[in-house]
Amino acid sequence: MRWARRLWVLLLLLHLSLIGRVISHEESGEWSCESSSSEIHMEAAFLPGIITLDGYADDWSGIEGSEYPLLPALDPDNDKEYSGGKLTFKALHDGRDVFFLLQVDGDYAYSKGENKKCPSVSLMFQIGEDATYHNMGGCKEGRDSCTNKTCKGHEVDIMHFSIGNAIPGRLYGGNPTDSSQGNGGDRFGHLVDLYAWTPHCRYLDGTGPSGNDTNGQNNWKGAWWHSSFSGHSGFVVEDSPYGSNGQKGTYFFEFSRPLRTMDRLQQDAQFTVGGSTKMSAAFWYPVDGNAWHGSSHFSINCDWVSMHISSGKSLVGKDASSTSSWDAASAFSLLFSVISLCLSIFVIYRILGPKSAQYKPMEISLG
Ligand SMILES: *[C@@H]1O[C@H](CO)[C@@H](O)[C@H](O)[C@H]1NC(C)=O
Ligand SMILES: *[C@@H]1O[C@H](CO)[C@@H](O)[C@H](O)[C@H]1NC(C)=O
Repeated sequence: MRWARRLWVLLLLLHLSLIGRVISHEESGEWSCESSSSEIHMEAAFLPGIITLDGYADDWSGIEGSEYPLLPALDPDNDKEYSGGKLTFKALHDGRDVFFLLQVDGDYAYSKGENKKCPSVSLMFQIGEDATYHNMGGCKEGRDSCTNKTCKGHEVDIMHFSIGNAIPGRLYGGNPTDSSQGNGGDRFGHLVDLYAWTPHCRYLDGTGPSGNDTNGQNNWKGAWWHSSFSGHSGFVVEDSPYGSNGQKGTYFFEFSRPLRTMDRLQQDAQFTVGGSTKMSAAFWYPVDGNAWHGSSHFSINCDWVSMHISSGKSLVGKDASSTSSWDAASAFSLLFSVISLCLSIFVIYRILGPKSAQYKPMEISLG
């Protein structure tokens, strides 16, 4: 029986090593603004228990991302591409929350309290069916006439993170103080939850041109980091600017939001497991140290990008790229085969082993 036990250990080790392989799924595509009709697809895989929302991207290393050139959102000309590098976008979900990582190379630029002299990122999602990427929903009404009635169907959901007051590695976004005021603000780190119908009709969740509904909430959380920082112990505001300006490196912005929110005003996009959402990502950078303007952002595409939220089921399918389905099914089958193996060895041992000699005297006595 001893060698059987060794086999069991061996099989167990084999199994563990297979679980250890972290698998990712993504789709990336080429795009050019001339052919904006060609859709780009991204995938948010179901991979629970991987991401810690702390701004460090180590936990995303096994997840493949999609890379996008960053072109000016209002003038998507290849000659005006952000010179620092591409934006890498990664997403996954755990069945409750959806997680995003935006990673952009950029020399460290930080100016405490001055959001426009620091990099900034934003995510935008389609809410209303008529909401276009271009013009943030594309409602034709002006600033004075846009309302939730005149612009119905053009709603887009926006998350914007400006880091001038946000300590790297710390969590910002929805917090009890602002939630108690019933809007999507974040007085601590400016990671805010907004909605819009046009660039000129943009409001914090829970506020609007026809008055404030105090049921708005900031459903986002997020953190940022730059690879030039040394040490992972907690920064405090006195450590600002946290690193040396001009240092080469990579910015990381990490976000999460529940798949569904309690929004009743058409101010949040709702995500469905197995469904898709139309979205975009934008990046602001203080080029040559100059403060940026609201409209001077770079964008990953000149139209919506489609993101599919994978259901857990796809992991149990035949798709070879989804071997994390190994976990439950293979553990069971391994356990089963090992038990049957042990049983057969036991039976063979009982029949052929030394103990079978004990039965001989019985046969003799019968004779
Ligand atoms: C609604 O809330 C916003 C943001 O808190 C505030 O600036 C505005 O004055 C409020 N409007 C009304 C009518 O109370
Ligand atoms: C429009 O917004 C106001 C204020 O939040 C709200 O009372 C009203 O029900 C909304 N109307 C529609 C059609 O959503």
